This record gives sequence, C-alpha cells and structure tokens, in this order.
Amino acid sequence: MAEETAAVIILFGGSGDLAQRKLYPAMFGLYKRGILAQHFAVIGTARRPWTDAHYRDIVVSAVAGDNDHDQAVAFAAHFYYQSHDVTDAAHYITLKELAAKLDAKYETAGNRLYYMAMAPTFFATIASHLKSEALLTDGGFNRLVIEKPFGHDYASAKALNDSITATFAESQIFRIDHYLGKEMAQAIMGLRFGNPIIKALWNKDFIQDIQITLAEAVGVEERAGYYETAGALRDMVQNHVMQLVAYLTMAEPTALSAAAVHEVKAEAFANLHRYTTAEAAANFVRGQYTSAQIAGATVPGYRQEDGVAAASMTDTFVAGRITTDAPALAGVPIYVRTGKRLTRKSTQVTVTFKPGTPGLFGTQPAAHLTIYIEPTQGITLQLNGKKLGQTNDLTPENLDFRHDKKAAQAAPEAYERLIEDALVGDQTNFNHWTELAATWRYIDVILAAWAKDDAMPTYPAGTMGPKQAFELLQQDGHDWFWQPTRIQMAD
Ligand code: BG6
Repeated sequence: MAEETAAVIILFGGSGDLAQRKLYPAMFGLYKRGILAQHFAVIGTARRPWTDAHYRDIVVSAVAGDNDHDQAVAFAAHFYYQSHDVTDAAHYITLKELAAKLDAKYETAGNRLYYMAMAPTFFATIASHLKSEALLTDGGFNRLVIEKPFGHDYASAKALNDSITATFAESQIFRIDHYLGKEMAQAIMGLRFGNPIIKALWNKDFIQDIQITLAEAVGVEERAGYYETAGALRDMVQNHVMQLVAYLTMAEPTALSAAAVHEVKAEAFANLHRYTTAEAAANFVRGQYTSAQIAGATVPGYRQEDGVAAASMTDTFVAGRITTDAPALAGVPIYVRTGKRLTRKSTQVTVTFKPGTPGLFGTQPAAHLTIYIEPTQGITLQLNGKKLGQTNDLTPENLDFRHDKKAAQAAPEAYERLIEDALVGDQTNFNHWTELAATWRYIDVILAAWAKDDAMPTYPAGTMGPKQAFELLQQDGHDWFWQPTRIQMAD
C-alpha cells in the first residue's frame, strides 16, 4: 500500500459540481488506497449555509457505490463545512482557526493544500486573503491547487499569476490541467522515449503529419454562462490540446523529474512557430453547431441553447494547423481539432509517417501510429502487410494494443493521480507558468484574428465540424485520419 500523506485540505468550491463529480470520488480513491488515511481533514467552503452533517451526506452520496457505503461514511467523517464569503476577511480568520483545530486533531503537521475549484473571478481574492489573514503555516507544506480557466487571455492570466505568486512561490503552485492526469497522455513519454525504434523515426524525415482530435458528443450542457465567455479555443485548445502538442513535439527530458520535464516543455512551447494575425486566420478554423436530428431526436443548435445569445459568436469547434521550429520536426504540420456536438466522444492522436517512394511494391501507403487516449485506451500501429494468398499485394494491417477495460477502470482516474501528486509535492503533471504564458500568447493571436472576422462557419450537430476543417488539410494534400462521418455539407 502507498504511503499515507497528512494534510488539511481547504477546498474553495466545496458545494460545486466539480467537487461532487470529480474531487470527492478522487479523494475517496486515495482513501481506499491508504494515501489519505487517518491524518487528513477536508474543509469544504462555499456560500450556502450547510451543516457538517449535511455536507458529509453530500460527500457520501458523491462517492459511495453499492459495496462501500460504510467506508464512504468513515471517509466523510473527515469532512467539515464552513459557509464562507471569499471577500470577507473575518471568514478567513474562522477558517484559519478551524484548520488549526483540525491540524491538531488529525496530526497533519501543519500541511495545507488550498484547492481553488470555484468561479475563477475569486481566485485572486482568495489568494490575497490567504496572505493577509496569514493562513499559511510556518511548519509543514502549503500548496495551492488551482483549477482552470487560468485567465481568458495572456494579460488576464498574467494578472492572475501575479496575484497568486504574491502569496505562493511557483514551487507551491499546482495548476490543474486534468488531461495531464490521463493514463494515455502520461503514456506518451514512455512510448516516445522508451522505444528506440520510435525515437529513431520521430522526426521530419519520417513523419508526414501529426493529428490531435479531442471530440465531444455533448453540447454545451448547463454551462452556457461560462462557455459563452470561453469557447472551444480557450476551453480546450489553450490547455489540453497544447499540452498534448508539447508531449508530442518536445525533446527527451534528461530525467523524469518535474524540473526536467518542464524544461523541455517550455522549450517545445517556445519553438512553436508564431503566426501573424493574417497567418492565424489562414491556419485556424472555428465553427458553431446547428440543430440536427440525432438518434431520432432533435438537438438544439448552439444559438438555441439556454443561456446562449441569439447571435453568439462563441466557437464550439476549432481546427488548426500548428507547426514547430524545433529542428527535429520543423515544418511538420500538427493538425488539431476539438468541438462540442461532434459525432462521438474520442480523444486520439495519429502520427502519419511518410509514404515510401515507388519501389518493389509500388508506392507504399503511409503507416499510422494512433494513440487512443479516451474512452478507448491503447495504441494501434498500421503497417502494410502482404495480403493473404497467392499475391504480393500489400494491404494496411493493424497491430492493436488496448488496455483491458476493467484494468483501466481500476487504475486511478486523472483527478486521483493529480491530487496524489499535489499531496506528495510532484509538479510534473501540472502547468508551469511559462507554459501558460506561452500558450496564451499563441492563442491571443488567433483570438485577434477572429475578432476581425464576423464569419462563423457552422456544422450540424453530430458531424465532425464545418467543411473548412476538412479543407484546411486538403490544402496540404492531407486528410483527417479519423473520420467517423464526413461533413454533411453545412452551408
Ligand atoms: C474541460 C472543459 O476542461 O474538459 C469541458 O471545460 C470539457 O468543456 C472537458 O467537456 C472534457 O474533458 P474530458 O476529460 O471529458 O475529455
């Protein structure tokens, strides 16, 4: 069993959706694995006036399955609730006293994890009160875990970073990107750097293009209030997509340490080829879903969703062509796309190798390496194999590896890994400020290009995006490798 960690976890946003859907189940997973055991307490804070008993009921119902109700109750006994107005200094004093009391009761050695999982408008206010009301302890660790969105452009991200670094040092800040906690995202480094044959081929002489798809079948759901201020570019590309770009284009780190990994990632981001606004307009496509029939039911278009402006210009889809100036991969197109209401939920990466020159077998078709991140987890290498029988003709054949579904489900989920990392102080799978700064600078150019343009391409819900997303690759003589359906011409 893993080693127990000790801490008082102060959660801002204790009544929220993220806490109930992800954080409490993740902490329960840590409890079951003995990483949280006797020496921990969680203080959930939010505005509403709940009692500890009510809060614990909420926690139990968020985590308990059919067979572990008693264990869930024992786990929830470590949870305390404080009704908290994040702007009221007096409330931080009460919070501090409660934390000190629980520190003594659970013998947590002054260790504190401050977890910001609420509306980002309050992140800076909370950080400054933690300092002014002196919540940070002298002994033990003090770490800040902070959820996205981390800013909505470079300037706001910088302002937020300035305010949290007035209280916490970079080494104490754990900026969440939950994609970094995913099994198959974490597997990319091993695949790239643990296989000499892959290492040897991972360059512009062999790779034709790299494609990253983060497709969602759901629409905006109940999150229009947030999504209208964000859109797919900020919601998915600036963070999740860019992190995958870094993993796929970075050099080999000198060690598997946070410092070494952050160093090569920072370099990978610095190497991204910067576009002018005109180039960004030519290399990035946005789109918005329109109403369609899916499985016999009509789903609304984005502009008809509750809370969405009738003439909203929010992007629910983005496709783009990214290139790097890193010598090994210079000029290799990295095509990315993400969107709501696409055909199917799937996160996958495909590396297409260059087709061979005409030889014994004619022109050999390209080989493809696909990394399935979710929901399927595995790898497929498509090679040319000889057709069965009395022939020398070749045909694409798949070498498939898939993680066993049960085993994959039993492995710690992304949030469980990330909270464990924060508890043990491992920053490898968190966003360093240099990464955020670089990605926002990159995104700002695209935002500026779109601000000058009032065209919003559309795609029917259930398809893989507007036709412009296909044309983007056709311009290079390429095509999306994964095509659950082709575009049904939208306009
Ligand atoms: C979040 C976005 O960061 O990622 C959501 O805010 C999106 O809009 C989600 O649905 C997708 O995450 P996953 O893990 O389901 O691919």
